[in-house]
Amino acid sequence: MSHKVLMVCLGNICRSPLAHGILESKVHHSIFVDSAGTAGYHIGELPDKRSIAVAKNHGIDISKQRCRQFTKNDFTTFDTIYVMDQSNFDNVIKLAPNEKSKQKVKLILNEIHPNKNLEVPDPYYGGTSGFEEVFNMLDKACEVIAAKMK
Ligand code: 4NP
Repeated sequence: MSHKVLMVCLGNICRSPLAHGILESKVHHSIFVDSAGTAGYHIGELPDKRSIAVAKNHGIDISKQRCRQFTKNDFTTFDTIYVMDQSNFDNVIKLAPNEKSKQKVKLILNEIHPNKNLEVPDPYYGGTSGFEEVFNMLDKACEVIAAKMK
């Protein structure tokens, strides 16, 4: 059975759409990748223009994505749930129905810095350089994730 991976941040407009697009670009299409936000502020919206632009600069189109909110059902659908920061982690864990669900939730940067619990900074209120920095972090993490799925 093919693996299903969900990328989660707060708004699902800046970080998780990038993680979603980057991982999708590195894996076989039999692996299902999606993203969601723990908050409901931006439901139905496109990713942030700055995320669309930085992805496009790296040859990845994320403009077809639409924002959705994380739900408890995602624990049933997905095998692995990658979160960007500790606050996302806490918000997702709060909705977990059981221990098996909790074990699906991982901080994405632990893929490249095991057990360090580092966070992908929220670039929403900063400038364009923050989006480039986030892209580079996620690109490295997704390279490791994709390699495990080969
Ligand atoms: P994201 O960034 O969690 O990386 O999508 C944010 C986007 C929007 C908001 C917060 C974070 N907001 O408060 O609207």
